[in-house]
Amino acid sequence: MGINIALDGPSGAGKSTIAKAVAAKMKYVYVDTGAMYRAVACYMVTSGTDFEDTSAIINKLNDISIKLEYMDGAQHVILNGEDVSDKIRTPEISMAASKTSAIPEVRTFLFDLQQTMAKENDIIMDGRDIGTVVLPNADVKIFLTASAEARAQRRFKELQEKGDPSTYEEVLRDIEQRDYNDTHRETAPLKKADDAVEVDTTALDLQQSIDEICRVIADKLSEKKNNASLTVKKERTPRVLMEVHPISKTNKVNPLRVFGYGILRWVTIGIYHIYYDIKWEGVENVPKDGGNIFASNHRSYQDPVFIALHARVPLSYMAKEELFQGNKAFKWLISKLGAFPVSRGKGDTAAIDTSIEKLESGRNLAIFPEGTRSKDGKVGKGKTGVALIAAVAQTKIIPVGITFEGKLKFRKKVTVRYGKPIIPSEIGADNTDSGSLKVLKNRVMEDITSLVH
Ligand code: DC
Repeated sequence: MGINIALDGPSGAGKSTIAKAVAAKMKYVYVDTGAMYRAVACYMVTSGTDFEDTSAIINKLNDISIKLEYMDGAQHVILNGEDVSDKIRTPEISMAASKTSAIPEVRTFLFDLQQTMAKENDIIMDGRDIGTVVLPNADVKIFLTASAEARAQRRFKELQEKGDPSTYEEVLRDIEQRDYNDTHRETAPLKKADDAVEVDTTALDLQQSIDEICRVIADKLSEKKNNASLTVKKERTPRVLMEVHPISKTNKVNPLRVFGYGILRWVTIGIYHIYYDIKWEGVENVPKDGGNIFASNHRSYQDPVFIALHARVPLSYMAKEELFQGNKAFKWLISKLGAFPVSRGKGDTAAIDTSIEKLESGRNLAIFPEGTRSKDGKVGKGKTGVALIAAVAQTKIIPVGITFEGKLKFRKKVTVRYGKPIIPSEIGADNTDSGSLKVLKNRVMEDITSLVH
């Protein structure tokens, strides 16, 4: 199937001249369906048919063979082997074509030929019913109009150049009569397709009309292309990783535990102030409740502590599974501190489930989206896990930036910055589609990066 452009409109609106020019410019085949109706009318006139005798006209269709041939870019109408291209352009044939084209059998007779041409080529086809009946799925539909007077004036000039004796009044009357016939016939009357673009050429000269039609075609084709690529994108159904299941914020960690944890935190903060030259910024961004995710860059083994010291509710955090495989006492210790194992790089769904359970139980969760420590302090690429957990749980992510130069040692200057909480639903991650998760993950990584300085 080629590209199909349907150009409809009343007689004399300039369809054929414009379509020819556009076809030449776009290297499309121009199909003038009016010429086909004219060829049928031509046969009826030359064979002396009574135009009131519809069945005689229908019977004679069996004797007709019509072909469109192209020579040097020009369309030639071949009627029973004879080139009638010029013969069909007289006022007599115009009026006869207007009459015969109202007969449904005549239309059916030409319909197949028109559709076959559209299937096989990139075409611009002009007529009266192209956008509505012949090519209802055309890529572009244009309805070309002009006032009856403007059309009569143009046709009158054309006929004069050919030496035709018709007067302007006769031409105008003719046009009005044909408009009436074409719009009032029962079968496939001339009418604008709902999705056609109307172009009125009353005030436009030929070149302006051609330019306008080319512009409409270019716009429509590019719009269609964009829609097609959007549809393709849309059709690639985003992978839904896990269903959204917002955590309930009513689960609270035992207040006694929070109190004890508070004392422990402040003692540790004091110790850390002695050991490091440390400061925490943006503490006001840390929610007072639990069930939040702290997403931080990863610089040292101290990071979970650095993050936890200003979170009022204890933190759980993922730790690489290797840490749980060695010394039993060490395993017990890190478990008590809130760590649980994750196998890195394997999309560990058990770790994701555990994370969500921890959040659901009212604890906070620390995640290092980079997955590994950064030696030079630069923030690396993040993994999507953080976004997935936040989107499933529909909970806040507090971005954290940990900054220090070189190696972490005694009296090292360390800054821990908490950023403004990110609420997944506010940036479109109210679902777990891969696209939404990517947006959320990118936002988290951008915020972490902006906090590291
Ligand atoms: O576009 P034209 O003037 O060459 O058309 C000649 C006649 O054929 C016109 O009166 C209407 C008719 N026609 C039609 O009914 N359907 C078409 N698709 C094209 C032309």
